[in-house]
Amino acid sequence: MAETQSTEPIEQTPAAEAAREAAVEAALGKLDLDAKARLLGGRTMWELHALPEIGLGSLVMSDGPIGVRGVRWTADDPSVALPSPTALAATWDQDLARRAGALLAQEARRKGVHVLLAPTVNLHRTPLGGRHFEAYSEDPYLTGVIGTGYVRGVQSGGVGTTVKHFVANDAETDRFTVDNKVPPRALRELYLAPFETIVENARPWGIMTAYNQVNGVTMTEHRDLVEGVLRGEWGFDGVNVSDWMAARSTTGDIEGGLDVAMPGPRTVYGEPLAAAVRAGEVAEERVDRAVRNVLRLAARVGVLDGADPVVAPADLPAPIDGEALAREIARRAFVLVRNENRALPLTGTGTVALTGAAARDARILGGGSATVFPAHVVSPLDGLTAALPEGALTYAVGADPSDELAPAEKGFTLRAICRDATGAVIGEGNLPTGQVQWIGDDLPEGVTHETLDSVEITGTFTPRESGEHVFGTRGPGAFTLTVDGTVRYDGVQTMGSASDPFEAFFGAPAERAKVALTAGETVEISLNHPLDRRTKAPLQGVVFSLVHLAPRRDADELIAEAVAAARAAETAVVVVATTESVESEGFDRTDLRLPGRQDDLVRAVAAANPNTVVVVNSGSPVELPWREEVAAVLLGWFPGQEGGAALADVLLGAEEPGGRLPTTWGDLASAPVTDTTPKGGELAYSEGVFIGYRAWDKAGATPSYPFGHGLGYTDWTYESMTVEGPAVTVRLRNSGGRTGREVVQVYLAPTGDPERPARLLAGFAGAVAAPGESVEVTVELPRRAFETWDEATHSWTYRTGTYEIRVGRSVTDLRLRETLVV
Ligand code: BGC
Repeated sequence: MAETQSTEPIEQTPAAEAAREAAVEAALGKLDLDAKARLLGGRTMWELHALPEIGLGSLVMSDGPIGVRGVRWTADDPSVALPSPTALAATWDQDLARRAGALLAQEARRKGVHVLLAPTVNLHRTPLGGRHFEAYSEDPYLTGVIGTGYVRGVQSGGVGTTVKHFVANDAETDRFTVDNKVPPRALRELYLAPFETIVENARPWGIMTAYNQVNGVTMTEHRDLVEGVLRGEWGFDGVNVSDWMAARSTTGDIEGGLDVAMPGPRTVYGEPLAAAVRAGEVAEERVDRAVRNVLRLAARVGVLDGADPVVAPADLPAPIDGEALAREIARRAFVLVRNENRALPLTGTGTVALTGAAARDARILGGGSATVFPAHVVSPLDGLTAALPEGALTYAVGADPSDELAPAEKGFTLRAICRDATGAVIGEGNLPTGQVQWIGDDLPEGVTHETLDSVEITGTFTPRESGEHVFGTRGPGAFTLTVDGTVRYDGVQTMGSASDPFEAFFGAPAERAKVALTAGETVEISLNHPLDRRTKAPLQGVVFSLVHLAPRRDADELIAEAVAAARAAETAVVVVATTESVESEGFDRTDLRLPGRQDDLVRAVAAANPNTVVVVNSGSPVELPWREEVAAVLLGWFPGQEGGAALADVLLGAEEPGGRLPTTWGDLASAPVTDTTPKGGELAYSEGVFIGYRAWDKAGATPSYPFGHGLGYTDWTYESMTVEGPAVTVRLRNSGGRTGREVVQVYLAPTGDPERPARLLAGFAGAVAAPGESVEVTVELPRRAFETWDEATHSWTYRTGTYEIRVGRSVTDLRLRETLVV
């Protein structure tokens, strides 16, 4: 069965749109300058001001993209955690992305959220991007297709999106200030392209402008790209929200087309904006334009009286089972990149030796603003324990890559006590982990930023292991740490060189004390944090953590234990992973190696057991130096809360791993584009249009696994193709032994033009077939695939001439070819 991926944006009748516009104009007419300016600056970390005088409720926004955190940054209010965006893109399935979006809209409504701060459609320009896991792909076409599905899905639930980060926020180093020098062709053909596709096909109700500069202008002030390209050329009619703290100039931002400066309450809009209008520096008409965009959003999501929301409550999609969808996406996203002698699926009834720290403590999501707190997590150990007969599974840690301090959790019972300047207790907070993350108004009951003077994390700790336990702190400010009645640390942590406040929040924890403890013996613990009331940070919040590291066992001993278990079992499954300090928001990676002794573990286990299957738990590429030494390699991404259940589904063959690589996996030494470090504040995108597979092709280099690759559990024979106009029809047959889904990929090769990529993805289609069954898919090639951006005329040129159309299973496994002359 050929899949159709044709869900349209929610169609609005012109009459409904006109009625909303009328309500917007009526509301605007009733506002004075101060109210208008107030509306454009955040009231809190996540909310805008309500204006009851015009029947306007408060618009609430929340991250995004794999779940909806809500306005509270705590585990108290759990959220469904879907697989990482790289995983969603690995499904190559727009309709699945739409269903993910619809689930997130349901989550948003449950949490009172009107706008989801997602999707992230920046590109994987280099494998070193620290936030790579949060974007879809190195390819603008695939990114645009998945992003379109996602936005349609969220908005079909009546919730807005902010497609982000507009534009060229493709790395994290110095992200607040970096001036990305992007040649116009690359800007149009690569970095703007997904935004353009999504605006055209999904009509997003919002966009988020990035921190960085593009060609000398900071993005929140980039009038050419915002007013000129986004609104002028593409017809975007949504709201333009700044990334958090990206808005830095009242006049620059309003003139540049920025509608909303987030977060509040201290922003460059509000009072400073009203003053700028009164001083004659800004025309009131510019303020009105921004307010109109905000009111239009409010009308669309249903918080402006007198306007019908785009999706009436009666038209909301039927309730979606979040757990089932998370599991489905995970297994559809797993990419089987190697499967010697059909090592997978596991068919025998023999025993399985599972190893790897992440098999027990799964890394299900990437760090930073994308973090959500799921109600539960199914680890690989949980998933396999549930799926295998009793006694068939053993587990050994093998290697623990995170010899880092992590928020106090296992064995701790903690709460947070809030005191005023006199030392009197004014409130208490529940603390499931040692993390205090109270941002904006999100404070314990009865506590305000004005009265709060100090916060103490206090409680007990009962160790699981005897030995030297390490305790530490994370976050800036003064701390007193007491363990077992003794003060172990009393000092001040400055922000150091971290210019990015998110890096300060989420960045490196600091070791403060080593204490010898005995397993099972409970000790009292306290971390007191007096607040620095002199600093007027733009972000109102109390963010710090008590962190802990249990005694480490000898690394060689751990490996030996895992090897012994692997030798005794029929199959060994090794789960390797990155850690939060490798892949997170706020910084880039310095290498692609697996941290700790994980490579040694894989090699040792593979030497002991020929049926070794490696599961890679990372959001983006890592080097796999042992990949030819093991039977199978399954890339599992950050698989979301149901990842372990999905893993059991595919390892044991209930389902096939359906993913195809959305990005090239290769070693850093051979990767063609690796620079993320600005020089003199500038980062040159000197590779032009050659990133990802386009760059690997150009360099003649061979990656470990190419873009588009993924094996699944059946075989496919590509039988024939025909090209009629821009439509390519492909007949293929499932020549393997079980039903499967193939992703038919169509690449366009402009012949004889070194300025253009040797091949580019021009379309794809999913096809499901039973063994022996043939299926036909038709892929329409978009006009844009034949166009290039002409830097001289500032316009698209349709490039006539001879093209080769190549069809196959990946960018390098091409089975059919035809010539097309246009
Ligand atoms: C991130 C955005 C996010 C925002 C709010 C920023 O640091 O870049 O993607 O939406 O924070 O959490």
